[in-house]
Amino acid sequence: MKLKTMTELGTPIPSHKAYIIRSTKDVSMEQRARVLKETEYNMFSFPADLLYLDYLSDSGSTSMTDLQWAAMFLGDESYGRNKGYYALLEAFRDTFERGDQPRKIIDMYLTGENDVEKLMNDIYLQSFEGGFVNGGIYQLSRPNTFITPQGRVAEYLLFSTLAEVLHEIDPTKKYYIPNNGHFDTTGANIRAVDIEPVNVFDKTIVLEPFPAEEMDKSNPFKGNMDVVQLEALIQEKGADSIPVIYLTITNNSVAGQPVSMANIKAVNAIADKNGIPLFFDACRFAENAYFIKEFEQGYQNLSVREIVKEMFSYADGFTISLKKDGMANMGGALLLRDQGVFVQKYSINGKNIGTRLKEKQIVTIGNDSYGALSGRDIMALSMGLYEVVKEKYLKSRIGQTRYFAKKLAEHNVPVILPAGGHAVYLDMERFLEGTGMKTEDFGGVGFTIELIKHYGIRACELGPFAFEYDQRPPEQQRSILNLVRFAIPRNAYSRADIDYTVAAVVELFNHKESIPKVRISRGKELSLRHFQTGLEPVYD
Ligand code: F0G
Repeated sequence: MKLKTMTELGTPIPSHKAYIIRSTKDVSMEQRARVLKETEYNMFSFPADLLYLDYLSDSGSTSMTDLQWAAMFLGDESYGRNKGYYALLEAFRDTFERGDQPRKIIDMYLTGENDVEKLMNDIYLQSFEGGFVNGGIYQLSRPNTFITPQGRVAEYLLFSTLAEVLHEIDPTKKYYIPNNGHFDTTGANIRAVDIEPVNVFDKTIVLEPFPAEEMDKSNPFKGNMDVVQLEALIQEKGADSIPVIYLTITNNSVAGQPVSMANIKAVNAIADKNGIPLFFDACRFAENAYFIKEFEQGYQNLSVREIVKEMFSYADGFTISLKKDGMANMGGALLLRDQGVFVQKYSINGKNIGTRLKEKQIVTIGNDSYGALSGRDIMALSMGLYEVVKEKYLKSRIGQTRYFAKKLAEHNVPVILPAGGHAVYLDMERFLEGTGMKTEDFGGVGFTIELIKHYGIRACELGPFAFEYDQRPPEQQRSILNLVRFAIPRNAYSRADIDYTVAAVVELFNHKESIPKVRISRGKELSLRHFQTGLEPVYD
């Protein structure tokens, strides 16, 4: 008898076992309705404890692994050069530079290594230079690795310091930073220092149809930067007006879509030709690497670790939120290539840019060995960097997101296809077709209100409400996508949870005429208003 394998049957092989359970509460629809009303129908102010499933963000909402919890116990809360600092710096080198040859010195801590000479030689007195993570004397003389509490702090550190340098070079010049999709905090941090963030992607590509049944076979890498637009921008503004080019992997602002290695190489070549440093917003690098392995020609036989190494070989620096990709619940970093283009270009007036960054880090965030993280967090993070590139985990992670999108598509719910890595996005333009709902009625928000009220599920509108459609000039209005995002926490939800969500979304889709318009009742002009405005559904 020839039995089919589970892969042939299309059923994923279990990737983990859950040993810690958190129970949900029995909350009635009436109770949720009351809470919604008293928290002004704002998704961010609804208490998480009263939900069944929470897709507000995949950021920091991951379930940590047993190895991460074990590493946490070894957290060292010393003020200077805690043990975790060394483990984390080595984990960065292992992950971003060493491919299949990690040193994994964290194991020496886990096994209680007592050989002092070995600890000194292999960890504490080892020097490194020439990569993203200088070590020993070189980290002191040419600092290039900056630990921060989360991604946006790394962005603040980078852009505020860069702006000071640019001001010293020419206080009158206008600067632009292109990105295949600025995340909102990235754009805001750039705008805050009077530099203009420019999005270099084509909205129409994201919305192009893609057959759901093709998702296991091919991928168009819709997260890619539009290199034609990039070259046109450089031509128009001049290379000296563009202090850095940014590439976000995966592209959260473009429905979580991956970026291909070919695109990374192409952008790198343009950056190189123009003497502009290329930075990654590396938030979900491991998920991006898995897409490359699955779908890009020539990469099937390489490990995710090797793919990550190649990806980062094209970057001159990166900011990263370590709350993504299942690394940990808290953490971020800024890393610069030692003596790279960025460091050389912006070390001016006798001052190394790394030294400037370090001084600001110490004054505003925390000392370089902890960057406002506890020693426990640092250890969890160090271990997390090894967990996140495990292919079995990534297969199950990407597979779950894809399953979610496929199920919705089977019920004809308009969903962006193919599915990205961390989230499923509904196309609310098409979802609400036939209801007479206008863009400024914020139907996506109305949908999320009903989803919480009826089914205890939180999702988030990323569309006309979040991106302030009504406050923007017409040329900017056109580029605003109308999406609702379900960001999936890692290792937290089961297939049954996804099925529950699909059933809820389908039921609302089948009764879309009951979705209310939404009015802003307080704080229409506030910036970042999805965090702070009051709303009110309008039921006919
Ligand atoms: N860059 C990208 C692409 C992100 O997705 C995020 C966060 C950040 C930077 C900022 O990192 O939160 O650690 O400060 N995205 C989360 C989300 C919040 O829900 O998409 P952070």
